[in-house]
Amino acid sequence: MKMEEIRQRAREKLQGFCRVCRRCDGRACAGEVPGMGGILSGRAFQNNVSALDMYYVNLRTIHQVEKPDTSIKLFGRSFQTPVFVAPLTGASYNMGGALSEAELASCLVKGAQLAGSCAFTGDGAEADIYAAGLAALKKHGGGAAIIKPRSMEKIKEFIRLAEENGAYAVGIDIDGAGLVTMALKGQPVGPKSYYQLRELIGMTSLPFILKGIMTVQEAEMAVEMGVAAVVVSNHGGRVLDCTPGVAEVLPEIVERVKGEITVIADGGIRSGIDVLKMLALGADAVLIGRPAIWGAFGGGSMGVRKIIETMTEQLCHGMLMTGCVNLKAVDHHVIY
Ligand SMILES: Cc1cc2nc3c(=O)[nH]c(=O)nc-3n(C[C@H](O)[C@H](O)[C@H](O)COP(=O)(O)O)c2cc1C
Repeated sequence: MKMEEIRQRAREKLQGFCRVCRRCDGRACAGEVPGMGGILSGRAFQNNVSALDMYYVNLRTIHQVEKPDTSIKLFGRSFQTPVFVAPLTGASYNMGGALSEAELASCLVKGAQLAGSCAFTGDGAEADIYAAGLAALKKHGGGAAIIKPRSMEKIKEFIRLAEENGAYAVGIDIDGAGLVTMALKGQPVGPKSYYQLRELIGMTSLPFILKGIMTVQEAEMAVEMGVAAVVVSNHGGRVLDCTPGVAEVLPEIVERVKGEITVIADGGIRSGIDVLKMLALGADAVLIGRPAIWGAFGGGSMGVRKIIETMTEQLCHGMLMTGCVNLKAVDHHVIY
């Protein structure tokens, strides 16, 4: 399966909801939420891409590394790549409906599995969305279930369901606190207090992920609460206009919490070199969003697999050319 074929088929199947631009930077789709874009001016999405563009990586080729090792341990499991699939939902209202929610979830979870990775599943404004993710996790062998910041009772119910369906980890996209689509469909969300989050973390033995952290202060709170991992993320620029790009805030967050919790980053990652940059800026692993959707719509689970494997090959080449034998060796020296 060729990358250009996947992109072309995705362009057709996404029916204008995503144009699958040559350079996916949030300009053409500014304001398209619901849809695949960034909220209002689209600046938060665009800032994710331009923040990565600000950094360069430099050559280091006097060494003996022959085959860099991209493997990683996460949530007590081994994976072949640090490229994981982000929670991506709303097959109808965000992506045009050529795939059902269940088909989308299945492609994402299975494709990730085939590539030696795993997927994070999501939660959304329609009742079947969370269940579709869990069914895919159960069928294809696990991943992480990310729940919207709903009422405490609902979150607790969803955490139990994640446990019963074989999730490796569970968490909340805390930055989904203001999603109008949820309220419109009678599924209200809102911010959660420190104590509410602590209660939720305390009720499960699964590793707990807090997705949507963009400040040092909230990352410190996450450590104190006992989370296993934060995802430094602005939700792909979809929840608040004009936030900084993730690669801008990542270094200061990492400086404070590295070693205490796992730091995952997402937003604007389009190639293995973007992955290399995020890791060099201190992330332990990354999530990819929109490119995984192209994989699913353009080539099913094999398309998702191809997207992850291509980025992993590019990462591996980047590591070879910057003198990194394994992911631990990818540090700030890589950045110019
Ligand atoms: C169409 C679409 C649907 C999304 N759905 C969810 C979701 O259900 N839960 C969630 O935590 N994040 C969701 N996200 C955000 C992604 O998980 C991720 O943070 C973001 O897409 C990363 O940026 P990128 O797309 O530029 O790689 C969604 C993003 C998009 C584009």
